[in-house]
Amino acid sequence: MKLSTSFVCQECGYESPKFLGKCPECGEWNSLREIKIESKALKISGRKESASVKKLSEIKLEEKQRLLTGFSEMDGVLGGGIVKGSVILLAGDPGIGKSTLLLQVSLNLAKKSKILYISGEESEGQIKLRAKRITKETNQADFFLVSETNTDSISSIVQQLEPALIIVDSIQTMESENLSGLSGSVGQVRYAASQFIKIAKNLNIPIIIVGHVTKEGMVAGPMVLSHMVDTVLFLEGEKFTSTRILRSLKNRFGPVDEVGIFAMEEKGLAEVRNPEQYFLGKKDENSPGSVLVATLEGSRPFLVEIQALVVFSKLPMPRRVTSGIDYKRLELLLAVLQKHCRLPLDTMDVFVNVAGGLKLADRAADLGICLAIFSSFKNIPLPKTVGIAEVGLLGELRTVPFLEKRVKEAKKLGFKNIFSSSEKSLLNVLNFISK
Ligand code: TYD
Ligand code: MG
Repeated sequence: MKLSTSFVCQECGYESPKFLGKCPECGEWNSLREIKIESKALKISGRKESASVKKLSEIKLEEKQRLLTGFSEMDGVLGGGIVKGSVILLAGDPGIGKSTLLLQVSLNLAKKSKILYISGEESEGQIKLRAKRITKETNQADFFLVSETNTDSISSIVQQLEPALIIVDSIQTMESENLSGLSGSVGQVRYAASQFIKIAKNLNIPIIIVGHVTKEGMVAGPMVLSHMVDTVLFLEGEKFTSTRILRSLKNRFGPVDEVGIFAMEEKGLAEVRNPEQYFLGKKDENSPGSVLVATLEGSRPFLVEIQALVVFSKLPMPRRVTSGIDYKRLELLLAVLQKHCRLPLDTMDVFVNVAGGLKLADRAADLGICLAIFSSFKNIPLPKTVGIAEVGLLGELRTVPFLEKRVKEAKKLGFKNIFSSSEKSLLNVLNFISK
């Protein structure tokens, strides 16, 4: 058996044929580790056609066959279901619900097709228990579970079973004896992934690979796989709120701007078809400090409530506390309100919160945030008010993408006071509403 070696940076996954003291990709010192790969290539039966040259006109477009997951929210994100033979990375924070989502998908699909769920994290018993929590009927005959972490033995299991879909939970627990290095190390993660990709392509079986990724660790860890797989999905949300958003960061077979919205409930994840019911707090119309913004997730507009609380500060450096919006953005908006609208906010503590635990990076929320702050500061309620505009440093209102779509959504839900960039400046809007 021949052994080949290569050196892989344990920080970023950079691979080099020779040893280097410093990684040229991420600049870390002493991060390259030697990995030995037995060149006993993974043997998988399957035809390997030699490449032939074709004319463009001769190539037939075949509609890729897709498996439907049983969640229209997830199918939408994938561009119409799971493409046969594709490899999907499902990334997200630990505990966010990746295993739950995939278990539900497996339970849905096992009614019709053979599913293989490979778990390196939980025992078969634990998974059964979770399945019982999600659904009453857990005797799906075609749902196969295996608690295994050795990638080398997995390929033979797959060949015997020939499932319609394989779930690998998670890539960090998989390891091969061909490689020195602990499971979860960049080398093992990459190697395991490359084996699964071979299986998927040669046997035309789709594989969903789970990867735990924290926001801080976007570069290291399983995100080094992004360029190897066909699709990267990200499941996100705050642990202590129930909203979960599934988005695609990369998709060879579909759009990348679609999102699926779910809620984590007692019996697993439930699809949320009308996001408004989650993001509009059930509020008293007449309490000051609440204004709506119309945001887009993917190509989908929906309304979200912004709440602000402005109180006198006893501190030399008044507090600015945000949840769901960028802290720096709030500071900027406060400075604009102070300078161009003459609100003395430098003596005030300001708290801003997005209802429903959603994260807003959308600039179109600027106006709504300013209006909520103004409303709390002046103690005037702004019922049925929606702000849709970006606020510039000069206090001007800028137009945002898909304005008509957002306005239409707000009107559809019965909101009458809609302010947008046609008002020209923030001051104009504030003057208008204080009349
Ligand atoms: P899990 O799917 O294990 O997360 P991941 O695989 O991404 O690490 O999610 C576990 C969390 O979900 C846990 O905190 C409990 C919660 N949960 C529910 O709220 N309802 C349910 O029906 C299930 C199965 C889990
Ligand atoms: Mg899990």
